[in-house]
Amino acid sequence: MRDSSGIMGGLAVAPMVHIKNSEEIERMRATCKLAGQVLEMIAPHVQPGVSTDRLNSLCHEYICDHGAIPSPLNYYGFPKSICTSVNEVVCHGIPGKQVLREGDIVNVDITTKLDGYHGDTSRTFRVGEVSERSDKIARVAHEALVRGIAAVKPGATLGDIGHAVQSYAESEGCSVVREYCGHGIGREFHEEPQVLHYGKPGRGFRLRPGMTFTIEPMINLGKPDIRLLKDNWTVVTRDGSLSGQYEHTLLITDHGCEILTSLDGTV
Ligand code: MF3
Ligand code: CO
Ligand code: CO
Repeated sequence: MRDSSGIMGGLAVAPMVHIKNSEEIERMRATCKLAGQVLEMIAPHVQPGVSTDRLNSLCHEYICDHGAIPSPLNYYGFPKSICTSVNEVVCHGIPGKQVLREGDIVNVDITTKLDGYHGDTSRTFRVGEVSERSDKIARVAHEALVRGIAAVKPGATLGDIGHAVQSYAESEGCSVVREYCGHGIGREFHEEPQVLHYGKPGRGFRLRPGMTFTIEPMINLGKPDIRLLKDNWTVVTRDGSLSGQYEHTLLITDHGCEILTSLDGTV
């Protein structure tokens, strides 16, 4: 989601965070599991020669066949059911006629709405054999999410997550996109709080059991700056460098977190 600063008149305002009860948590588990299954379903189809429109159709059908709705469709006018972000596209790529070629990387971002609750997850796929640079940005983006999730424990703050992501990504010579961030999720696709992928340890909102939110770092091989294309959705790196992203929806528990969109518990 797009970052809108929680600073008003120089004062940080406490975000209005929904703490989920056990019934809501069961629904979050179900929708997030479905979103994870969509990514598993689509993985073998991400091959040279496939169009992003075809990936969109396959995901749309699968989601509807499982009694859910693709959350992106018509969200603020978004025209498709998933986002497909290829190479220098940072996020919100619109599926279309583009055919994937050997060497591309593509982030497929899936959000499902099942029984009134949203689940959100994405992965950067390598299309056939990819270059060293493409492999690196996909690997660093994945590890950035691993590090962010590892920072999620009782008593931790949002700043701890941002710091873990940023310090790792920058240690690899990569950069963190600032304009988009993770987000609370539940009855709404995008809820408070904003989960920034940069920050300082100990700063920001303290994590509490029952919170559900995403971590979804967008990591660039070059500079962090971005540009919006004329379609008003597609976000690209300003310098044309490659960008990678992975996303999971998490539940804060008494002892740590549950990765709701992971089918096997791994990131
Ligand atoms: N799934 C994206 C996210 O992680 C949001 C996509 S909004 C859309 O928050 F409208 F572009 F689909
Ligand atoms: Co998200
Ligand atoms: Co998403």
